[in-house]
Amino acid sequence: MEKGYVAVLDSGVGGISVLKELVKHYPNEKYLYLGDYYNAPYGNKNLRQLLDITKHNIDFIKRYPIKLIVLGCNTLSVTLKDDIEYYSGVSVFGVYPPVETTFNHKNKTLLLATVKTAKQYRASDNLHVVGLKDLAKDIENNVLDLSSVNFDLNLKRSVGNFYNKKHFYQTVILGCTHYEFIKNQIFDHFCPQNIISGIDFLVKNLSHTLKNDKSLVNNKDFDVLFIGHNARIYRNAFGMGG
Ligand code: DGL
Repeated sequence: MEKGYVAVLDSGVGGISVLKELVKHYPNEKYLYLGDYYNAPYGNKNLRQLLDITKHNIDFIKRYPIKLIVLGCNTLSVTLKDDIEYYSGVSVFGVYPPVETTFNHKNKTLLLATVKTAKQYRASDNLHVVGLKDLAKDIENNVLDLSSVNFDLNLKRSVGNFYNKKHFYQTVILGCTHYEFIKNQIFDHFCPQNIISGIDFLVKNLSHTLKNDKSLVNNKDFDVLFIGHNARIYRNAFGMGG
């Protein structure tokens, strides 16, 4: 495949959790990151708004040579992946809540996601689905001090008295990439046996398209270009500083 950037898009910092895994597994690629802080959160927008915003962002990243797009955002992936592929003219890979991996579980699974993503999933006896109105934005606004994010309060605001669920769920699915940044708080709240997300599946899906050069696995000199208004903040969140 010819050289060009692997462009990672999200409404903000969430996609950094995806980018981190991508550079770990495919370190010899060139990456471009766009976090769209001004339009965050995506999870409360309607489809028309999301499509307009994303078309604008694609026009912006297309000033650079792009070989494929990774949606570091569950909300965009579950709603607009095909439209984005059509509009951009390059292959698009998305991140999705891996609900099907838990279908055989006898125990309970909880999917936490943005309101928009949550609406795409049907709850059942064993799968509970919770859409959180403000959590992604709260994380975005407090990315420099994540201890200010109050997960319990966010949960209460969205679903009222959804309390005392400690040890109730075997699995909690993080259906929004922003939530990776407060994984410990979520763990402490529910004490599940495991917390999963779609990021590992996304990384695996890309294995037919991107090359994993094992000799570069310990390489820390990643080729990542951060573009857009909050580029510096996302660069820091990625750990590149400076
Ligand atoms: N990080 C995104 C997701 O995975 C978007 C969050 C938002 O902007 O609402 O859904």
